[in-house]
Amino acid sequence: MKILKATWESPSNIALVKYWGKKGNQLPLNPSFSMCLTNSKTITSVEAIESKSFGIDFYFEGQENLKFKDKIEKKIYELENELPWIFNFKLIIRSQNTFPHSTGIASSASSMSALFLCLVDIESQLNGTIIDLNRVSKLSRIGSGSASRSVMGPLSHWGKNEVFTSSSDDYATIFTPDKDSFLTDLHDAIMIVESTEKSVSSTVGHSLMNNHRHFESRIKNANKNFKDLISAILENAFGAFSRVCENEALDLHAMMMTSDPSFILLKPNSIKIIELIRTWQKDLNLEITFTIDAGPNIHVLYTNKDKEKVEQLLRVHILKEKICHEIIFDKIGKGPNKLL
Ligand code: PMV
Repeated sequence: MKILKATWESPSNIALVKYWGKKGNQLPLNPSFSMCLTNSKTITSVEAIESKSFGIDFYFEGQENLKFKDKIEKKIYELENELPWIFNFKLIIRSQNTFPHSTGIASSASSMSALFLCLVDIESQLNGTIIDLNRVSKLSRIGSGSASRSVMGPLSHWGKNEVFTSSSDDYATIFTPDKDSFLTDLHDAIMIVESTEKSVSSTVGHSLMNNHRHFESRIKNANKNFKDLISAILENAFGAFSRVCENEALDLHAMMMTSDPSFILLKPNSIKIIELIRTWQKDLNLEITFTIDAGPNIHVLYTNKDKEKVEQLLRVHILKEKICHEIIFDKIGKGPNKLL
């Protein structure tokens, strides 16, 4: 009886140009660009035991979790042509996150990518081949769109675009910044404004793009922002980078507010944080900007040069003033890592 094992850690990622809206089998309407984080990650181990019938046991943070088991089983059946070998095995999956689940940080990117890294690793052990990261990224994408980018660190782009001829809608591609770039040490302090589950899921949000009255203008703007972001990075121009990040974050939320039906995920304290950041940019001339995911939490991005000053401001004017109830300090990370 064959028993094969793999353990991987895979990070969460934060998009700077956002994937919002999909077509076909989880393909993006526009190109996106993101950075992997260091501290916010999922660690997953899979044990595949040869068996006459397929089945999954799923343990999340040590406890059997039937909701996750059903979700993964469904995904695996969707992928039966891609992973035919899997039906000769029983899988024991153990998964844990390094970030608390009550923070509102999306775990689908880190968890789906960690799972498919383990499955493709086991498949490579069976076939005696090396792990094809493009394939892992593609399978992770089918698991959850943004998970395609967690496979590729430190930064990656996903979705056909005019800037990189190698770009693809199927999988993400690594982008390595210049060693002198401000990005090599970019920090992301996540202001947890609210930690309850989102009132509208990303799945519903994506689908509302289909008949959106600003559909064309969003696609045009996302492509322009993608191009401008890469130019800003190549020129090492933090000011231009910051303008694109903020425009993208607010464009994403503008799409939510103007969809039919409309929904608003930002909270009064999210806006207060944005206003403070804008004041500090103007008055203190700091290299600080922000981005926002599909939720109320604000990701404050800042360079290593201004780290001490920014973190002091965040602690004193945001955390102590109770504008957020927690700050998760994170930074750009290298991408996934095989543990066993
Ligand atoms: O991967 P999904 O289907 O949860 O969608 C993610 C969408 C955003 O987080 C809002 C943007 C992105 O590109 O990560």
